[in-house]
Amino acid sequence: MKIAVIGSGYVGLVAAACFAEMGHSVICVDNDERKLSALQRGEIPIHELYLPELLERHLGRRLHFSNSIKDAVQACSAVFIAVGTPPLENGEADLSFVEAVAREIALSLNGYKVIVEKSTVPVYTSDWIRRVMKRTCTAGSGFDVVSNPEFLREGTAVTDFLYPDRIVVGADNQRSRELLREIYSPTIDGSYSAQADRIPEPTNSQTKPKLIMTSAKSAELIKHASNAFLAMKISFINAVANVCEQVDADIEEVRKGIGADRRIGSAFLNAGIGYGGSCFPKDVAAFRSVAQQVGCSFPLLDDVIKINSEQRHRFLRKVRETLWTLKGKRLGVLGLAFKGGTDDIRESPAIEIIKLLVSEHCSIRAYDPAAMDRAREVLKESVSYVADCYEAAEGADALLVLTDWEDFSQLDLKRIRGLLKYPNVIDGRNLYSREAMLNAGLTYISVGRSTLKPIASSEHAVDAISVSLE
Ligand SMILES: NC(=O)c1ccc[n+]([C@@H]2O[C@H](COP(=O)([O-])OP(=O)(O)OC[C@H]3O[C@@H](n4cnc5c(N)ncnc54)[C@H](O)[C@@H]3O)[C@@H](O)[C@H]2O)c1
Repeated sequence: MKIAVIGSGYVGLVAAACFAEMGHSVICVDNDERKLSALQRGEIPIHELYLPELLERHLGRRLHFSNSIKDAVQACSAVFIAVGTPPLENGEADLSFVEAVAREIALSLNGYKVIVEKSTVPVYTSDWIRRVMKRTCTAGSGFDVVSNPEFLREGTAVTDFLYPDRIVVGADNQRSRELLREIYSPTIDGSYSAQADRIPEPTNSQTKPKLIMTSAKSAELIKHASNAFLAMKISFINAVANVCEQVDADIEEVRKGIGADRRIGSAFLNAGIGYGGSCFPKDVAAFRSVAQQVGCSFPLLDDVIKINSEQRHRFLRKVRETLWTLKGKRLGVLGLAFKGGTDDIRESPAIEIIKLLVSEHCSIRAYDPAAMDRAREVLKESVSYVADCYEAAEGADALLVLTDWEDFSQLDLKRIRGLLKYPNVIDGRNLYSREAMLNAGLTYISVGRSTLKPIASSEHAVDAISVSLE
């Protein structure tokens, strides 16, 4: 099938490349000329596993990039809208990009098309798209609007798209429902996963996803409610971690015990400095606005947001408790992205914590495997960017772990111990066992677990304090 995807961001680009991989002919449209020319040269603007392979396979063959919505709409049967829906000041989703694209699509119609809302949007958006398009388009052009929310996670976006748990299609008639079924048929019937040259499926993935057909309104709510639920799990475990700290229990033991219950599950039950990224913060806020607008009290969402924000400040208090004053302290920072596996720093807890530390006149040496260029755009030269974790640790009063990159959990701790000025590791992601840190002679401060200090170095935190006073 011929498919247009409007927006070549984390979702649009991945969707376009994966549709091409599934055998469709795809035109991906963006109005950011710099991004477009990079893509046309085969350069990939985001860090995402397997995306380079897909572009290599399909660019110029089944995958093309364009700046013309009109050309793409006229050449295709289905048009996916995958532009941003950032938060407004009041927490509502800003739908102006979606509206602008819907108008342009309406002006370009040259026959029946299915318009697919892929961006995350509040309930009723498909009705609005339909209304706006009807008002804008010239008489005689038929179209349907379908909601098909996206559940991919950055870092594993390609495999999430090709091997999803479920595909949700919110359509109000059979014709558009069938078209969406046809688009996703290689994943639904398992034929994609049977191909010899497929992108390898992740362990534990189902070979055939559930296809869930709903109304458009239900599909829109499924997406908002799913993200709010996942965010709630993270805030829940963080609140439990705070209780653990008070009673000297171990959150890592507690979360394993909770997650082993299949009714609960262990995913999204990691204690730390809270969720970030371009989705959870804005989607929880947007869902809260939706509930308010329709007159439903949903204070649980207020608490999810409050706990998440407080978690970053708790972490800062730990840094302060370890080092006493912050002014002039040298801190190594591991991680800038909002989570491991991505270069995305939108709403990253790491960036927020660094900004607060910089405002307290700390000197920061930061490392991230993928997000340093993006971080530099925001943090400028207020921090130094270094080549690896060990350089970040060199001469530091403490090493802070702010992103859950897998690489960070495999450091040579004895080497880190030798490089640090004082042996303090403050881990906002609980990447290490306390015993491993203790064996390496490091004082390890983490989330929801009491601090173990090597006997010989129990005064190191204090040493750092006295040096700063000299
Ligand atoms: N990032 C994720 O992990 C994720 C996961 C699921 C759903 N979503 C949702 O998908 C949507 C897109 O998210 P994203 O992270 O890909 O955003 P993004 O900001 O990375 O990409 C959006 C793209 O749309 C382009 N664009 C904006 N207006 C345009 C126009 N008029 N014509 C052509 N292109 C235009 C922008 O230039 C940009 O490249 C959002 O609603 C988001 O909530 C995101």
